[in-house]
Amino acid sequence: MSASALPWSPANQMPKAMDRADMDAVTAQFVAAVQMAERAGFDMIELHAAHGYLISSFISPKSNTRTDDYGGSLQNRMRYPLEVFRAMRAAWPAQKPMSVRISANDWVGDDGVTPTDAVEIARLFSAAGADIIDVSAGQTSPDARPVYGRMFQTPFSDRIRNEAGLATMAVGNITEADQVNSILLAGRADLVCLARPHLADPYWTLHAAIRMEDAGTEWPLPYLAGRDQARRLRERAQEAIRV
Ligand SMILES: Cc1cc2nc3c(=O)[nH]c(=O)nc-3n(C[C@H](O)[C@H](O)[C@H](O)COP(=O)(O)O)c2cc1C
Repeated sequence: MSASALPWSPANQMPKAMDRADMDAVTAQFVAAVQMAERAGFDMIELHAAHGYLISSFISPKSNTRTDDYGGSLQNRMRYPLEVFRAMRAAWPAQKPMSVRISANDWVGDDGVTPTDAVEIARLFSAAGADIIDVSAGQTSPDARPVYGRMFQTPFSDRIRNEAGLATMAVGNITEADQVNSILLAGRADLVCLARPHLADPYWTLHAAIRMEDAGTEWPLPYLAGRDQARRLRERAQEAIRV
């Protein structure tokens, strides 16, 4: 199923354009997932509304060519995503935070979602109860021409945070603790997410804390001996540099 009966590419399956009964069934499945997350004790949940997944298929005009109330203007394309978000928010405890991941740029110019649209998309999710916007981009169209580089999606987070006054998470090719701190201190995001650095080094955060001489990072109890040794090695290396 998708917003419209448009395959991702000629090589992909033809999805069914969702009708009202499909929408109600899928909303109920999202709500059931929220209830399971609460029973499992999660502290925070995120609605994935990016990267060409189902909710994203409604938001992007590249995948949504509907002519009913759920297609056309950005307001219309946001109607079903906001229905799902509100239903989830109502099922999730009010005191627990909820985020939403968006594609802030379809990377197809004015034929798709632009960073300007993303500010409005973020505002709409915030008004529906999103506590923080997880600002990703792309993967919504095979026509996309993304411009990669260090911290390449951070400007979209910056715009949403500073134009709409909303809390954001920045993500995308952020690889250094110095970059994380610069993004936070410059007010370009409220949280920073790193994905691939953790595939290369699952303890990236703990190692960064050693490098930054951060005393406040919590280590799991069985790892404390490793933390203390890593700190000693760091101090010795610093001492060697001074000598
Ligand atoms: C192997 C792999 C699988 C991923 N799967 C997902 C996914 O299912 N959903 C998602 O939102 N992002 C997914 N991502 C994207 C990451 O969440 C992240 O946005 C992206 O890798 C950019 O951040 P990074 O430069 O720190 O890796 C995946 C990334 C990798 C490398």
